Amino acid sequence: PVLVVDYGAQYAQLIARRVRETQVYSEVVPHDTPVEEIVRRDPAAIVLSGGPASVYAPDAPQVDGALFDTGVPVFGICYGFQAMISALGGTVEHTGTREYGRTELSVVGRGGTLHEDLPGHHPVWMSHGDSVSKAPEGFTVTAGSKDTPVAAFENTERRIAGVQYHPEVAHTPHGQEVLRRFLHDIAGVRPQWTTSSIVDETVAAIREQVGDRRAICGLSGGVDSAVAAALVQRAIGDRLTCVFVDHGLLRAGERAQVERDFVAATGVRLVVVDAVQQFLDALAGVSEPEEKRKIVGREFIRVFEQAARDLQAEAGQAGEHIDFLVQGTLYPDVVESGGGSGAANIKSHHNVGGLPEDLQFGLVEPLRALFKDEVRRVGLELGLPETIVHRQPFPGPGLAIRIIGEVTAQRLETLRAADSIAREELTAAGLDRDIWQCPVVLLADVQSVGVQGDHRTYGHPVVLRPVSSEDAMTADWTRLPYDVLERISTRITNEVAEINRVTIDVTSKPPGTIEWE
Ligand code: XMP
Repeated sequence: PVLVVDYGAQYAQLIARRVRETQVYSEVVPHDTPVEEIVRRDPAAIVLSGGPASVYAPDAPQVDGALFDTGVPVFGICYGFQAMISALGGTVEHTGTREYGRTELSVVGRGGTLHEDLPGHHPVWMSHGDSVSKAPEGFTVTAGSKDTPVAAFENTERRIAGVQYHPEVAHTPHGQEVLRRFLHDIAGVRPQWTTSSIVDETVAAIREQVGDRRAICGLSGGVDSAVAAALVQRAIGDRLTCVFVDHGLLRAGERAQVERDFVAATGVRLVVVDAVQQFLDALAGVSEPEEKRKIVGREFIRVFEQAARDLQAEAGQAGEHIDFLVQGTLYPDVVESGGGSGAANIKSHHNVGGLPEDLQFGLVEPLRALFKDEVRRVGLELGLPETIVHRQPFPGPGLAIRIIGEVTAQRLETLRAADSIAREELTAAGLDRDIWQCPVVLLADVQSVGVQGDHRTYGHPVVLRPVSSEDAMTADWTRLPYDVLERISTRITNEVAEINRVTIDVTSKPPGTIEWE
């Protein structure tokens, strides 16, 4: 792999993704990984990421100079660039001038391998206080900026290069090309990480792990569990059984979509457990959001475990125990939980609703090495429909946390109808890819007066919560076109008898969260 050494900024994962976009496999490692450990992993190249520290700070993470004697190609970015310059004998100065944001890069001479044939002046994204004033011996300076004489350098013989700016961000238009040139042209890494190679390698790994034994997978209707299941199905066929728990808190058509589209695309063996009444009973009389969440989580595990036991018993009669549980854990979860070499340390709740520690299954996690965009591409490669692969996020507790007040069958039906209209109109307007998601929230304990025909009505408001986001950590409210809002409003108030008012939530996150509960 290409190893991206993480100096503690939020950029390392982004760099790893950009490296993969050049069709080269990459992994993130912490900055205190010893050089021997790095060498042991036989990297094709190393990228030193940016980071928040000044190389002058007393506890600033340093680059071990031994790294540059290993012969492994190294690329430094921002802090990583400065740290490598220090280690190689160049000069980093605390000049007092800061460059932050969009900056003009001036190519020096012909620009070397990294910048050759790029425009002589082009924008890059900078974020640094210290500056490199002198490149180390034997290195060619290939670009500078107004405040930084050395903004890029390279030594193609030693296969070492670096840039002061952030090539990984979208604000650096030629950044991806520069990164590609380092990896392909300077480091000589072969671009082999393609969607079909991901599928082939993952399928082979699953076969190796599971052998001729059996596995189950909980489907949530979301992208990750669907793609994980499809990969395992491709690897072991009928020895995978999927379980879909219908808890009655789903949106209109979701169960049918899984039953129809997913099975049609994969041919997987699917067991649907109807637990609608069980969840309604458990939620009766409960309005408090955290309590609702806990109840849904708990009941989900109960139903899933029971389904697993039933399947196990069935399989057991045929002498074939189920040994594995499939989970859709993604690479960012792995990195964020410390790069875990262990198996079960991460967010088990995410896909199957919180599995117990003493789970009697081995875990199969076919997406452990993948980013979300790769998961989507794999899904398409495996023939999953767009409706599954580009599905917007939907919370595990489902509509229970979009009914403000007690959850009842009647209220669920009302919300489902309103939600379905909003989704239809957003899709018809071609807005699905522009918004992150648009929860529809039923204010079930609020009533307002309206008039329809000549009649007074006393119904409930719903809230539209359209948001734009990159990762759900922060979000902005989406400025939906008025005509789309109008169609949604008119249709909901006409078609859903219990609703006589449609409102829109114009709160960003923070301070609001995306969901209301
Ligand atoms: P909040 O409301 O915290 O939501 O801003 C952030 C994102 O997470 C989704 N969400 C959940 N997803 N289980 C999930 O799998 C949950 O319990 C859950 N709660 C919120 C929410 O839809 C949004 O995309």
